[in-house]
Amino acid sequence: MSENNLNIQMVDLKSQYMKIKPQVDQAINDVLSSTQFINGEHVKSFQNELAAYLDVKHVITCANGTDALQISMMALGLKPGDEIITPSFTYIATTEVIGLLGLKPVFVDCNPENFNISVDEVEKAITKKTKAIVPVHLFGQSSDMKSIMSLAKKYNLFVIEDNAQAIGSDYLGFNQPQKTGTIGNIGCTSFFPSKNLGCFGDGGAMMTNDDELAKKLRMIANHGQSKRYYHDIVGCNSRLDNIQAAVLRIKLKELDQYILNRQKAANYYDQNLKDLDQLTLPFRNLDSNHVFHQYTLKLDDSICKR
Ligand SMILES: Cc1ncc(COP(=O)(O)O)c(C=O)c1O
Repeated sequence: MSENNLNIQMVDLKSQYMKIKPQVDQAINDVLSSTQFINGEHVKSFQNELAAYLDVKHVITCANGTDALQISMMALGLKPGDEIITPSFTYIATTEVIGLLGLKPVFVDCNPENFNISVDEVEKAITKKTKAIVPVHLFGQSSDMKSIMSLAKKYNLFVIEDNAQAIGSDYLGFNQPQKTGTIGNIGCTSFFPSKNLGCFGDGGAMMTNDDELAKKLRMIANHGQSKRYYHDIVGCNSRLDNIQAAVLRIKLKELDQYILNRQKAANYYDQNLKDLDQLTLPFRNLDSNHVFHQYTLKLDDSICKR
């Protein structure tokens, strides 16, 4: 490996931190001095800055990506017994919250080449009880959102995008590129440290262009209140703290560079692994740019049996 190649990194949290250390340390110290730990100024600013980056009307932060999914399902008024279509291959959080709320997960298989939900299978799984589809933009590239949105329209279903692995990705299937997570009724994301945009602990957010939904999401994430101590609906305690928001504001400015680094690393792996015929390299959709949260290979049976 040449010296140049040694700089190619998918994600290295230590070197990421070292590059922004002075700003991050200063921002954390400022929060400590302010003692404004919950719902502080950084949280408000980060929500606005992320909304501008994604070109979406509302960003509502919360404690983690799993809560973002749960709060979204609560805000949409989904009730026990409602059927929610979701891919059978995803991180546990996507289906865990469906079970937690007493909803019924209806698992649909993925496209074998890109691991995103198969739209043909979605349509076959729709029944009278189906209320929502939860596509997961797995590994960093968009599901087929044009087809999913048209199915949702045809059958009057909600769409909650699980965008935990694809923040920053553009979906290219409409006339204009649109960021994943801003296409369905609600998009959810996670700021787990190793995510493309990660904080220094747990964090998450919901995105929507719907004013009423935004209000409800905000209330549910904060004990069901819009006015202090007036708890109009059942909610939970799921807030991003000010220190995490301060870190995220700095890292958001670097997000496009982090994505470029991941893409460069993916290209490098592709280049150097392409001749190994026991491997299938990651498939890249034409209707999405891949932000490579993960670089995932398929191994031939002959390797697995070794
Ligand atoms: C696809 C997907 N959905 C949801 C989550 C949950 O996010 P969090 O760990 O912030 O709760 C993750 C996190 O790994 C994820 O990869």
